[in-house]
Amino acid sequence: MQTIHDRAALTAILNSFRAAGENVALVPTMGALHDGHLALVADAKMRAARVVVSIFVNPKQFGPNEDFDAYPRRAEADSAKLIAAGVDVLWMPPVDEMYPAGFATNIRVEGLPDRLCGAARPGHFDGVATVVAKLFNQVRPDIAIFGEKDWQQLAIIRRMAADLDLGVEVVGFPTQREEDGLALSSRNAYLTPDERAAAVALPRALEQAARAVEGGEEISAALAAVPSALLKAGFSSVDYVELVAADTLIPLEKLDRPGRLLAAARIGKARLIDNLAVLPN
Ligand code: PAF
Repeated sequence: MQTIHDRAALTAILNSFRAAGENVALVPTMGALHDGHLALVADAKMRAARVVVSIFVNPKQFGPNEDFDAYPRRAEADSAKLIAAGVDVLWMPPVDEMYPAGFATNIRVEGLPDRLCGAARPGHFDGVATVVAKLFNQVRPDIAIFGEKDWQQLAIIRRMAADLDLGVEVVGFPTQREEDGLALSSRNAYLTPDERAAAVALPRALEQAARAVEGGEEISAALAAVPSALLKAGFSSVDYVELVAADTLIPLEKLDRPGRLLAAARIGKARLIDNLAVLPN
């Protein structure tokens, strides 16, 4: 694996892949890699001759009171995992390579970021869209793979790639879970053992609500059970629980198309998100 920190070297190695007729898959990450990321890498390896993983903790997607400084950074351990996974290139741009002095462009997808996580994290998805557009331009991948755990992020990136003719196939990969059902996330590292035990209430409550809606229960009643279950389990607050159309993220009043049940809730120092498919019969 080649670890690269400057764009000229990145372009040179990518040109050599293209000259050999090899297609390229990109897995963008912020590091602190867990088995969920490694599943994205394994999928990338099946889809492309060459796999590039980026690690960049993107300051533009963190709000002033968020965990940018505390976000786990584990370059050495991450690198060892990626070598073992057979990655070809690790792209780790420094902040001033990504955002040189004078950088003034913001990419905003309209509509999709307004609600759900976007409501609690103003500007977050602009930061995501801007950095992902830059990563796409830097790597020019044929395929880019993102986890479905960040469902709203995936919808926004898909919209941006289509709207801006970025020529990248955006692939969503199913959420990877611990044995008890908790979605793998770098932010699970913030949980104390007691909070970790309580956190499983999130996937469980979503699963129960999703099956209830599929079984014909009224949507508002099924969703209302989720915050009470989370607060009872030890979550301190619930940002949202919503059933939306899987593609447009518009709230569903009845289950007449593929839906997605999404939630975000806080426990200890962590804000956890999760989502599940809810399908009409
Ligand atoms: O999902 C993430 O890890 C980040 O939001 C991404 C897509 C790498 C952009 O910084």
